[in-house]
Order: sequence, then structure tokens, then C-alpha cells
Amino acid sequence: MNMQNDLLLRAARGEQVERPPVWLMRQAGRILPEYRAVRAKLSGFVELVQTPEKACEVTIQPVDLLGVDAAIIFSDILVVPEAMGLPYELIEKQGPFFPETINRESDLQRLHTVEPEEDLKYVMDAIRLTKKELNGRVPLIGFAGAPWTIFCYMIEGKGSKAWAGARRMLWEEPEMARTLLTMITDATIVYLKAQIKAGVDLVQVFDSWAGILSRDLYMEFAMPCMKRICDEINEVPLTVFAKGGNHFLKDLATLNCDTIGLDWNIHPQTAREIVGNDKTLQGNLDPSVLYGSHDEIRKRTKEMLKHFGGQQHIANLGHGVYPDIDPEKVKTFIETVKEWK
Ligand code: CP3
Repeated sequence: MNMQNDLLLRAARGEQVERPPVWLMRQAGRILPEYRAVRAKLSGFVELVQTPEKACEVTIQPVDLLGVDAAIIFSDILVVPEAMGLPYELIEKQGPFFPETINRESDLQRLHTVEPEEDLKYVMDAIRLTKKELNGRVPLIGFAGAPWTIFCYMIEGKGSKAWAGARRMLWEEPEMARTLLTMITDATIVYLKAQIKAGVDLVQVFDSWAGILSRDLYMEFAMPCMKRICDEINEVPLTVFAKGGNHFLKDLATLNCDTIGLDWNIHPQTAREIVGNDKTLQGNLDPSVLYGSHDEIRKRTKEMLKHFGGQQHIANLGHGVYPDIDPEKVKTFIETVKEWK
């Protein structure tokens, strides 16, 4: 199919672009009243994720309402542990909750391999429908959580600041930890391949809790999983976003991926020096800038764009957009990128 706006794909492949493409992590979500209206008619988030027509609708909303250069399929990283045998809930104002978690070796028996067209058919249907509805307007991004981040939820069952329980497992039960990480990695690879077959144009792997591991532990436990994913997914461009992982950015740069996502705790030029010239960088405006005035947003966005230099860059925030940000501020961010020369 002819892609009318292929800026994201060209930038990810390192090709020349007229201007950097722009999208936002968590663009499909609570910042939009139109999203909240769709969600309010359903029993909750999980039903929205599992209803392809509705997931498609909220995926396309930011393309129509905000003017982003890409859509990201509306789903969650937690659908993978669910498909493996650990269902999740989303508790209002608290976040994800897993009634059952993995605590000991015997718990692994509850888990099974993932057949994406069965266990995650609703995601595949949402992707097929969204591709059809987008009709080539902008690329569609698929995604999965990184094995380490999924591991954290499967062990602890809910969000945490330090994830001490998950890290404890690495020291006390390293073999079991490795087995579980391998199981998640296997599921992630088949899941991403199925998303690509269903039509996504680029995939992103979110390692949201990378930052709580030392470089040593990341290298020992998480990196081998990331390496396998990057080596096995070659059909479309792949972005690795290891939030808080700037202390091993040089190691991430050795991965067989096209784009490295950056949080806002590193200067774009420092990141470029560390990563070298072979990869595209994505990010990395501090999401809190969008609480600033429209003028501040324009100023900070232009500074960021200048520091990245205009090529091999995908404009984004350094993490997901916060739910209480005014959509008009988001539009100012997007328009500033689009007007930038
Ligand atoms: O627009 C998009 O980016 C696509 C959809 C998307 C969601 N979650 C929808 C969602 C994506 C890419 C994710 C990824 C995700 N989910 C991550 C990695 C990215 C990151 O933010 O670090 C993580 C760690 C999760 C787990 C998760 N899901 C949490 C911690 C929460 C609750 C906190 C929160 O942000 O609300 C969710 C729920 C969730 N996932 C919502 C959305 C829109 C909010 C649900 C709602 O109230 O409607």
C-alpha cells in the first residue's frame, strides 16, 4: 500500500527527511476527551483493549485530532503476561494489578507459550482494522514490553518504585529468573512477528524499568533478551526504548535495532556522541515542558530539534505524555516540529 506520509519510516531507516517526524508515547489515551468518551461507554480499559473496533477508533484519534505522523496501536504491554497465563486488571487511579504472580519455580507451570492469532487475536484484529482505516495516511507502530519490564510485573503484580522483589529474584533465584525471562522473550518475538504480519510498519520495545538495574545486572539478565529480539525482528524498523538506561547507552547502541529512544535525562548531543552515527534517535523532550506556556513549549521544542540536528531523529517526549496535559499544548509541540526547518 502507498504510504502518504512515510517520514517516520524514512527517519527510522536513516534516510533524508524534510523535517523530523513527530508522535508521542501515550498519545492514544486520557489526554483526549474523545478517548475518555469511548472508554466511558465500556466496562473499562481491558474491554477497550480487547474490542478491535474501539481500539482502532482510539488509535486513529490522535492522527485526526493532533496531527501526529504515526499511529500507535492501542493496547498495553501487559497483554503478553495475560496471554502467557497471568491475567491483569487495571485499577482506577492505582494502575495495573495481577491477582496471581510468579514467586517460585512451580509457578512457571502456570505459564504457556503464546499463539498470537489465538491468545492475542484481538490485537491482531485491531491492527488489521486500523491499517484498513488508516488507508496509508501514516505508518502504524506496533509494540511490546521488554522482557525485563514484563518480568517486573509478573513477579510483583503491580507497579513499584524500586522493584526490589524483582531484583531480589535475580540474586536469589538466578536460574529461575533466566527461565522466566527466556519464556517472555520467546512470547515477545512471536507476538512482534505476528503484529508485523498483521500490518504494523515499525515496532517499539518498551523497557520502562531498565533504569532500576545497574549496568552489570542489565547486561547479565536483560540485554541477552533484547539482543535476541533485535536479532530476530528484521522485517520492519525496530526502536528500543530503555527508560533510565543512559548508564548503558553505549551497550544499547550495539543492538541490531534502527532507533534508540531516549528519556530526557541525557543531552541529545551527548547521546549522539555515545551512540555514534549508525542509528536514529527518538525523543526526548521532558514531558513536563508541556505544562509550560505555549511560548515555552515552542522554545524548548526548537532547542531540542536543533540539538538533534534534523536528520536521524524522531521527535517525541522522553516518556509518555502525562494524562493531565492540555491537548492544545500537545498540538503546539507537534506544530512546532512540523514548522521547523
Ligand atoms: O498511545 C500509546 O502509547 C499506545 C497505548 C499504550 C498504552 N500503554 C495504553 C494505556 C502503550 C504503548 C502502553 C505501554 C505501557 N503500558 C508501558 C510502557 C510505556 C511506559 O509508559 O513506560 C507500561 C509500563 C504499561 C503498563 C501500564 N498500563 C501502566 C503502568 C498503566 C497505568 C498507569 C497509566 O499510565 O494510566 C497502564 C494503563 C494504560 N495503558 C492506560 C493507557 C491509555 C490508561 C488506562 C486508562 O485509564 O484509560
